[in-house]
Amino acid sequence: MTSKILNIVLALAVVILAVELYLAKQNTAAIQPEETGEMSALTAIAQRTSVRAYSDQPVEEEKVETLLRAAMAAPTARDCRPWAFVVVKDRKVLEAIADTLRNARMAAKAQLAIVVCGDMTKAIEGEGRDFWIQDASAATENLLIAATAQGLGAVWTGIYPSAKRTQTCRELLGLPEHIIPLNIIPIGYPAGEVTPKDKWDPTNIHTDRW
Ligand SMILES: Cc1cc2nc3c(=O)[nH]c(=O)nc-3n(C[C@H](O)[C@H](O)[C@H](O)COP(=O)(O)O)c2cc1C
Repeated sequence: MTSKILNIVLALAVVILAVELYLAKQNTAAIQPEETGEMSALTAIAQRTSVRAYSDQPVEEEKVETLLRAAMAAPTARDCRPWAFVVVKDRKVLEAIADTLRNARMAAKAQLAIVVCGDMTKAIEGEGRDFWIQDASAATENLLIAATAQGLGAVWTGIYPSAKRTQTCRELLGLPEHIIPLNIIPIGYPAGEVTPKDKWDPTNIHTDRW
């Protein structure tokens, strides 16, 4: 009798463990470098560099989703997540971006561009309002690192706080008033060699006090 109960308890424990393992896998399924042969986080951070020339190779939908998932995994002040992303794939719109925002002219040859925006309806009210810039910047850096990790090339092209660029971008994409475009990230497979800069400089570091 005792061994029967023990067997049932053991069987239940195995089932619970299997369910927990399954759920844990589901939760992390979005970003699974091991399964896709992608590089480690530290390697991707070190390898990231601005890529402004792209090949004609299309970018897979799953990779675009991974970029957006990485962006939305960023930390935000008070966990407000005050962001919105416009994924631009229409060649005509990419060319219009390149023509009207010359700092983003590489968009003409990109396979897509992601416009990282702040959503002011989600931003902190009052004094902490400008934290949206840091929140959207954190999302942007995550996106850039995820691009590198997936063998893609991308570059941050600044929009906000330039009033002129912000207005141009707003008109191009039909953004509502509460949406502020922080940057445009043209993306594609790199055309040619990509060499990251070595920016390590110990003189930037101060220990305990200045
Ligand atoms: C806030 C910000 C704005 C930027 N704006 C532009 C831009 O308008 N056009 C561009 O080609 N690169 C832009 N860059 C990319 C920088 O030029 C680039 O990060 C810098 O030269 C360092 O090179 P790396 O990214 O290869 O390390 C921007 C980067 C940041 C962080």
